[in-house]
Amino acid sequence: MGKESERKHAVIMVGLPARGKTYIASKVCRYLKWKGFPSKIFNTGRYRQDLDTELARKHDFFTSTVPDVANIRKKMIDQVLEDMVEWLKTEQARVGIYDATSITRERRKTVYELLSKEGFRVFFIESVCEDESIIQANIEQVKLTLPDYAHMDKQTAAEDFKKRLAAYEDVYEEIDLDHEGEYSFLRMIDVNRQIVCNKVNGYMQTGIVYLLMNVHIVPRTIYFSRHGESQFNVAGRIGGNSGLSPRGLQYAKALKTYMGEIKPENLEVWTSTMLRTIMTAEHFTECKREWRCLEEIDAGTCDGLTYEEIQEKFPDEFANRDEDKFNYRYPRGESYKDIITRLEPVLMELERAHNVLLVSHQAVLRCLLSYYLDIPPEELPYVKVPLHTLLKLTPTAYGCNVEQIPLKIDAVVTHRPPSQKAAEKAETAMKVRDEDAIEPTNI
Ligand code: F6P
Repeated sequence: MGKESERKHAVIMVGLPARGKTYIASKVCRYLKWKGFPSKIFNTGRYRQDLDTELARKHDFFTSTVPDVANIRKKMIDQVLEDMVEWLKTEQARVGIYDATSITRERRKTVYELLSKEGFRVFFIESVCEDESIIQANIEQVKLTLPDYAHMDKQTAAEDFKKRLAAYEDVYEEIDLDHEGEYSFLRMIDVNRQIVCNKVNGYMQTGIVYLLMNVHIVPRTIYFSRHGESQFNVAGRIGGNSGLSPRGLQYAKALKTYMGEIKPENLEVWTSTMLRTIMTAEHFTECKREWRCLEEIDAGTCDGLTYEEIQEKFPDEFANRDEDKFNYRYPRGESYKDIITRLEPVLMELERAHNVLLVSHQAVLRCLLSYYLDIPPEELPYVKVPLHTLLKLTPTAYGCNVEQIPLKIDAVVTHRPPSQKAAEKAETAMKVRDEDAIEPTNI
């Protein structure tokens, strides 16, 4: 295998059903994609559902020692692994995430040897739950709502699922240092109550550990808002550090009134260090935090100009930005890709936080939304984040719901639509994302 920076990685999930493996896998996948590493989950539950036989849906499929059934099961999990290997061999792929149970030492050895032989760096993530309430919540919120149980009453479904669990518990061997000390692994006990790491190796694995040390599963809501309409927005100018327009000032009041009515518990209000976000949050008396890394994209030599002026003065720059807006860097300024790099500390802090209202800017919010909504880089710079509209983000089992709440105060529109070519690229990228999306499955 070539340079370390081009190395391919395989992440192997380990653990009993209902331990949040798919939740963790989805988080890791979204995070790595956000950081620019093409990643994909290979979920055995999804393949099982594609088998579409009555047997595959019932616990017997997991417990049966009938050779035919055991064979189908074995073939299926091997097929998932094989597909992951094939995908990892494609040029652009970087991280494959094998979302199966891998609960026996023998299975982990097979997987490890196969993947290492291919030259992939292997990292195991085991999720252990000692807290019964976490398991129970997972069963109720995710497992019993699966298509498997669509035609069963809750009681029968719960019993079937318990039998399925028991079959796994009988054979489960936790990762153990004495026998598996050569592996790189992370063991999470009750989410992040206790984290055990072994031989964490290199940038990719360290990043995953850092992310997973910050996640929690306490329900919370994150609110995103752009600053109120600024004087530069009204003039059609980008960048700068102007104050709010009269309508922007009205929005600042309306935002405080709205949040005051819903009163999220222990709300924290985060802003950038720019005047327009600070003015937008001025009526809040809650705990406030100013972040430099939440500042708007630095437009470098184009700062303070209108889009028309940029097109006139720097036609090549203007065209280059339209060609590849995500990677394009303003002369002496930034690209969207640069913003993502500087946002990492905020993202980690957001993962750890509870209820937060984050007041920032158009480009920065697009970058943060792209993490929560798994938006590909081709689409990211065109996401609509209108002024005077609150975005309410509610984390769900494998992703995040977003609701737009317009506070009904007029404002200018600052969204520039993509060129025809950019729109086509974005559409293709979104299609791939949707095909890869993980729906709740069961294993
Ligand atoms: O127009 C408002 C603004 O926040 C500018 O300051 C910034 O340069 C721009 O939006 C970012 O949006 P885009 O990347 O679409 O130009």
